[in-house]
Amino acid sequence: MFDVYRLPDDHQAIREAVREVCDARVAPHAAEADETGEFPKQSYEALRASDFHAPHIPAEYGGAGADALATAIVIEEVARACASSSLIPAVNKLGTMPLLLAASPGLKQRYLPAVAAGEAMFSYCLSEPEAGSDAAGMTTRAVLDGDTWVLNGAKRWITNAGVSEYYTVFAVTDPSARSRGISAFVVEKGDEGVSFGAPEKKLGIKGSPTREVYFDNVRIPADRIIGEPGTGFATAMQTLDHTRVTIAAQAVGIAQGALDFALGYVKERKQFGRPIAEFQGLQFMLADMGMKLEAARQMTYVAAGKSERGDADLTYFGAAAKCFASDAAMEITTDAVQLLGGYGYTRDYPVERMMRDAKITQIYEGTNQVQRIVMARQLLKD
Ligand code: CAA
Repeated sequence: MFDVYRLPDDHQAIREAVREVCDARVAPHAAEADETGEFPKQSYEALRASDFHAPHIPAEYGGAGADALATAIVIEEVARACASSSLIPAVNKLGTMPLLLAASPGLKQRYLPAVAAGEAMFSYCLSEPEAGSDAAGMTTRAVLDGDTWVLNGAKRWITNAGVSEYYTVFAVTDPSARSRGISAFVVEKGDEGVSFGAPEKKLGIKGSPTREVYFDNVRIPADRIIGEPGTGFATAMQTLDHTRVTIAAQAVGIAQGALDFALGYVKERKQFGRPIAEFQGLQFMLADMGMKLEAARQMTYVAAGKSERGDADLTYFGAAAKCFASDAAMEITTDAVQLLGGYGYTRDYPVERMMRDAKITQIYEGTNQVQRIVMARQLLKD
């Protein structure tokens, strides 16, 4: 049998299983999460019950042990139903990836089982009010005092802040060394001195809380450092190499949701005495949407394969997949709104939500301008 370039059967089966859960138990709450801006607890319950809340956690920590491609498919399918909910598996991966890449066995054993069991979520604290694209320009400080680290500073744009129990926090431990003077730590929500800002009022992904996180003389045991002092920035960048693939998957899922809805609509909606699907102008739009979507999906899956294998060119492919898929998602969701005309512009239909949700995929985990910098540097090196 010619089996090259075909999704393996078990990955197809995962897609079907996630889609069944999401159609029944996630999609029905998507509009409500968007309207109320509240964390979609029912979706979290549904994902936990079916072990799709943090599928990437290895079996040795009690997780489902999904590979990077399977994890991307889970995130894609959840995003097809509800982009806000897709940030549950996506940010659990983002928050825990620094541990998986660089933490001591003891630290992994202490924190990963609770995430695998669905008892805790994990967020990632890199950006600051004055250090977004220039991540190495952060000022949050960690100082060693005997056998504790003392953290002071503020992080911004932290996805799932407040609902997550645990946080990977990047802080400066040697101000003279810029990126080589940054270290990574695990901070718990309950640590004294940790507090949260008000939820940001956002354009989309409204069901996923985004807040500032403040550290006011937060004392944590010395062994909560992830890896060696000074390795935090490299760990942060390596993490993003892997998780930009998950944002690409999220973008593919949002776009698929919009295309699916638009396809159903154009077959039902009649103008000039016939379904609008019969007009060639709209057929050309649909064809372009499908073509871009499939190209984005293929790039995402190739990058997921590279993430799983740890290929040397993951930095390039992770950035390329995220950049391409998010730009495609923005175009496809905008065209979906256009295909529905005035109805598409109202909240009576889901495509305007999908268009608003797609926008963030061009911005977070590095703007698409940063992705292009990353890609160009990779192309030009050597
Ligand atoms: N893997 C390993 N090491 C890496 C690396 C990678 N992918 N990229 C950089 N490094 C290392 C470099 O080798 C270099 O190490 P040495 O000093 O030892 O040589 C060091 O890191 C500094 O690298 P650069 O000189 O390239 O760093 P820079 O300051 O020029 O920044 C950048 C590069 C690509 C712009 C980077 O700052 C960046 O990615 N910015 C965007 C940040 C970002 O994506 N933020 C999103 C936050 S997460 C989020 O969105 C929140 C959420 O909740 C969803």
